[in-house]
Amino acid sequence: MAEIFPVSDEMQKNANINKADYEDLYEKSIKHPEEFWRRQAKRIDWVSFPKKIKDTRFKKDEYVIKWYEDGILNASYNCIDRHLPERANQTAFIFEPDDPKSESKHITYGELKDEVCRLANALKKQGVKKGDCVTIYMPMIPEAAYAMLACARIGAIHSVVFGGFSPNALKDRIVDCESKFVITADEGRRGGKTVPLKANVDKAVDGLDIVQKVIVFKNTGGDVEWHDGRDISWGETVLLQSNECKPEPMSAEDPLFILYTSGSTGKPKGILHTTGGYMVYASLTHELSFDYKDGEVYWCTADVGWITGHSYIVYGPLANAATSLIFEGVPSYPDYGRFWEITEKHQVNIFYTAPTAIRALLKEGDDYVTKHDRSSLRILGTVGEPINHEAWLWYYNVVGEKRCPIVDTWWQTETGGHMITPLPGVTDLKPGSAAMPFLGIKVEIVDHEGNVLEGECEGNLCIAYSWPGQMRSIYGDHDRYLETYFSQFDGKYFTGDGAKRDKDGYIWITGRVDDVINVSGHRFGTAEIETSINEHDAVAESAVVGYPHDIKGQGIYAYIIAKEGKVIDDVIKKEIVQFVRSDIGPIATIDIIQAASGLPKTRSGKIMRRILRKIAADDVDNLGDTSTLAEPAVVDELIANHKKITGDK
Ligand code: WTA
Repeated sequence: MAEIFPVSDEMQKNANINKADYEDLYEKSIKHPEEFWRRQAKRIDWVSFPKKIKDTRFKKDEYVIKWYEDGILNASYNCIDRHLPERANQTAFIFEPDDPKSESKHITYGELKDEVCRLANALKKQGVKKGDCVTIYMPMIPEAAYAMLACARIGAIHSVVFGGFSPNALKDRIVDCESKFVITADEGRRGGKTVPLKANVDKAVDGLDIVQKVIVFKNTGGDVEWHDGRDISWGETVLLQSNECKPEPMSAEDPLFILYTSGSTGKPKGILHTTGGYMVYASLTHELSFDYKDGEVYWCTADVGWITGHSYIVYGPLANAATSLIFEGVPSYPDYGRFWEITEKHQVNIFYTAPTAIRALLKEGDDYVTKHDRSSLRILGTVGEPINHEAWLWYYNVVGEKRCPIVDTWWQTETGGHMITPLPGVTDLKPGSAAMPFLGIKVEIVDHEGNVLEGECEGNLCIAYSWPGQMRSIYGDHDRYLETYFSQFDGKYFTGDGAKRDKDGYIWITGRVDDVINVSGHRFGTAEIETSINEHDAVAESAVVGYPHDIKGQGIYAYIIAKEGKVIDDVIKKEIVQFVRSDIGPIATIDIIQAASGLPKTRSGKIMRRILRKIAADDVDNLGDTSTLAEPAVVDELIANHKKITGDK
């Protein structure tokens, strides 16, 4: 646990930040935020440079978050146009298709401008206006990024919905942000299979009057139903448009996008990000966390349906004029060497992925890695969940050949960009620790009463001051926003995560302390999964918890009580698993169902999830205080049945 991997001299020599200057720089960023963030604003282009840098207060009753509020800019201009004089022929995106036998593509900044402008003009022609919300439900193809940038160009707000979500989940997200427009493709490709995106959209918008137009990109050429008047062919419409479209001047605090994520209660929340602060923050973190150098090939394996895809495939890298790789497929197809084959083929310098992928690949042995040349790799990154020691060492020793620092970046959909991360060339690494707060970020660990803990400690992870990339609201529900993030610990942003700080000041994320579970880096509210399970007609009541899972980090464990006259047998269990997959999406696959006759509740009827988590994790010697249980016998039965279904290990 205590081992340290020091920054190499080589890394230090060439890094974008000088190690010797770093502490001073951090100190200044915290003590003089106004000055620090004014300087950082210059990394992007403004139509009108902001005079007001920040107006931020986290206190619940005086809450305000405004960054660069009188600044005017356009995000798409910053990602494209401003690079054109010098880089029209530089590759902006490399596209690597699912099937290695299909050809990869290079899209230059010049071509990107044409594609984005044509689509932007087509959107305008279909009636999309500044401030309208456009839902994007696309495969991992460059057109997904064109769609985002086209919205940004005309001042429309995009809401990208991950292509693995079900029609139901898509519908909820369309309804919540009142999207009149949807952009999709006929089908997606992943691991040699097709994903019926257009058919899912048809189901989602069936009977939804608000959706006026569905723009469909022909990707696989598969058969799709066509609704005349509503469905618009991308090919027929977009190609006819002009490749010039003036970027809409936007206020820094105008919304750029909404992205849905799960919380511990209720339905998914539309996390709202605005334009100026987000762009500055995405650009700065991309450059420093990855020590990005001009001309490098950068690859983030996330999907654009998640925040990582927004900030670190599209906005951050393009703001920095990087070459960003978009991969359509999965790490295991056609075999477990796919990531490293692509790395070799495109000479990738910076590689950013999730611990769950690393764990899955580690299991398959080193040969898949070592048979491909990885000498181009310089920096490795991870995101989404804590990385276990074994996976870290394998990533470092085998994938990176002990040469590449690993940046373990802690952040959230809500934070817009990296918040706690080592910086290459600056921070000595400790496997499993996200290390230190980013510039301008003041981390505080607090106890349950909100007392700030100093030195070595463990508690709730909070952020004390505002930063430009932070979310501004939950779309349509500002009260829920204040309640979720600013009410637990007055005057601080509460992350929902627990953390430890060690004697050297390194931060170790211990996982969520609320009812959010993190399955293969995907967030789910346990309540969201329970609501879905409870819709099955054999189910009276259910309780879902996460439990440690070798590959996924956390697996989904459901305790289910049958309705009178029903039994939760193997057939029903399979049905329930299927039911939830089709209700939420295949990423919500329940791993273990335990039939139960009762749940541990307090006398006031509240489920004691702490006990359920312990049982699911096989940690029953240490159940903690059970004196408030209404019926203690329930627990013994749950433990006995848990042992039966998991093989009495
Ligand atoms: C978890 C993903 C440990 C954490 C960018 C957080 C991590 C949630 C790390 C946000 C990390 C993310 N180490 N845990 N490096 N990165 N998390 O919104 O629990 O999908 O609150 O954003 O993922 O997930 P989200």
